[in-house]
Amino acid sequence: MCGIVGYVGKKEALPIILKSLRRIEYRGYDSCGILVQDDGKMEVHKSAGSGSIDRLEASLSGSKYEGKIGIGHSRWATHGAPSEKNAHPHLDSKGEIAVVHNGIIENYQSIKEGFLSNCVFKSETDTEVIPHLISKKKVSSEKFDWQIKEAVKEALSYLKGSYAIIVAVKGFDGLVAARKESPLIIGVGDRENFIASDMSAVLEQTNRIIFLEEGDIAVVKKDSIYIENSGSEVKREERLIEWTIEDAEKGGYEHFMLKEIYEEPRSIIDTLRGYLAEDEINLGIDFKMEGDVKGKSILMVACGTSYYAAVCGKYIIENLAKLPVHVELASEFNYADFVLDGTKVMVMAITQSGETADTLMAMKKAKRYGCKTVAITNVLGSSATRIADETIYIRAGPEIGVAATKSFVAQLAIFYLLGLFLSEMPASEFVDHLEELKRMPQVAQMVLDDENVNIQKHARYLSRYEHVFFVGRGVNLPIALEGALKLKEISYIHAEGYAAGELKHGPFALLTEDTPVIAILTPGNTYEKTLGNVKEIKARGAPVIAIAEESDEEVEKYVDAVIRVPRTSAIFSPISNTIVLHLLAYWTAKERGCEIDKPRNLAKSVTVE
Ligand code: G6P
Repeated sequence: MCGIVGYVGKKEALPIILKSLRRIEYRGYDSCGILVQDDGKMEVHKSAGSGSIDRLEASLSGSKYEGKIGIGHSRWATHGAPSEKNAHPHLDSKGEIAVVHNGIIENYQSIKEGFLSNCVFKSETDTEVIPHLISKKKVSSEKFDWQIKEAVKEALSYLKGSYAIIVAVKGFDGLVAARKESPLIIGVGDRENFIASDMSAVLEQTNRIIFLEEGDIAVVKKDSIYIENSGSEVKREERLIEWTIEDAEKGGYEHFMLKEIYEEPRSIIDTLRGYLAEDEINLGIDFKMEGDVKGKSILMVACGTSYYAAVCGKYIIENLAKLPVHVELASEFNYADFVLDGTKVMVMAITQSGETADTLMAMKKAKRYGCKTVAITNVLGSSATRIADETIYIRAGPEIGVAATKSFVAQLAIFYLLGLFLSEMPASEFVDHLEELKRMPQVAQMVLDDENVNIQKHARYLSRYEHVFFVGRGVNLPIALEGALKLKEISYIHAEGYAAGELKHGPFALLTEDTPVIAILTPGNTYEKTLGNVKEIKARGAPVIAIAEESDEEVEKYVDAVIRVPRTSAIFSPISNTIVLHLLAYWTAKERGCEIDKPRNLAKSVTVE
């Protein structure tokens, strides 16, 4: 996610803004920019690419670049490629209003084409509409502060989506900050104040923190902080934060992985947000493959966790859209003698990083077959997006833990959208599914709120074993595979994911009281069959922990323990089951004292074959 910072005070702003940007480098960024202003002068400097904060600092060293008000931005691109042109701050036409923004403005295109159709835009970003909107309101010198705040407020009233913004205005001795669904804090200093999207940006300067709340607008000056919500002044408590900078980077969580698991609901919200307008899905690309989808199919290629997401995607799309989907490991596809008809098969590459070498190679091979290629990725401008004919972005934000978590559920969110988008189901059924999809972030949050403690208990138990099986069927088979992958990669326990009905063809020989089995038993057309499989497992002496829906009383009779998830229809159950298994892997690894964020021998992005 983008990071934003602001300073207003008695010191030179430039070094403070640069230091704050460095503090949020850990979040990942592809470009950055700063603005310093004083005495009616405003200067902007930007840089793009990895290491761009270093380059920005080097280019400014020695230059006379003074001002006691500043804003800065580190960008994780969502709209528009990573480039200097798209780096923030963005300005209005006169260059008098500058904005840094973290979030996504959903309706920026319609604002550009409508209300702002006479403005000239210099970037491809959603953010640039904000300074232009603010500039629409005439501001005179009388009650200047109040007028600027009102102009920002009015601009914000046009926006749909999420934002944390900081606004600097030429000749104004303060900054305006506002938030909706994106975090924003004020660091309180002595005759100086700081603003940031992330506490770690300011902790080196002050540990007196005000957390802005949903809908707050703040006017922050050297000696004053005024906060307003819904038109009235509000008081927000100042808190003394005892965290170290490292604690703050992880949002107070011990590991990035746990932080990212807790970001899974947000990851789904942000992913859906980009593609949903009222009851319509707009993926922004042409899927129809020269006309109707009938008689055609999708081939997905992927590696690692993305491969399991793709297998789940197969079940989802086949269920919702009735369109055949095949899934191949990219490393296998690359050397197999596939028979592919480019006119009938669309190839989708699923890759969080957009840089996995095997996946990129598979995309190139698909193109040689004449297939249309679509990248589904988290990283704007990544290699996959450059190879693909079309790209759909998941919007999970930067994922730092090596083990993928929040990107997995974002990938699932895209498959639900794709399945519905390609479906020809009756309108009422479509709306029901869409409503359920929109509820998924809430369902995900309920799992985190209700089951985390219970899961820790089961993790303590699992941590004593050296072999664990995960079983599921149908749409939850890939979730069992993902659960096993997560457990083995971060806890070093040997874990195998299996189709529940397949254990009798081999793994039964391994079942003993020392091989716990995690069984996904949420409702669906294979529920009874899986319950039958669980009875067979129990008969061989293996302990079973089931993941079951909250009101399922039957399951308790046959298993040793139950982890509960909220009721959903079967096709949507992978979301909550995944979160349970991510938490289970995390807490088991923690219990075993493992290096969770950087498991041995593994890399976040595997850029070699
Ligand atoms: C590595 C990572 C995994 C990831 C896989 C595929 O193995 O450790 O977490 O699932 O690469 O990465 P991609 O970026 O293509 O999704």
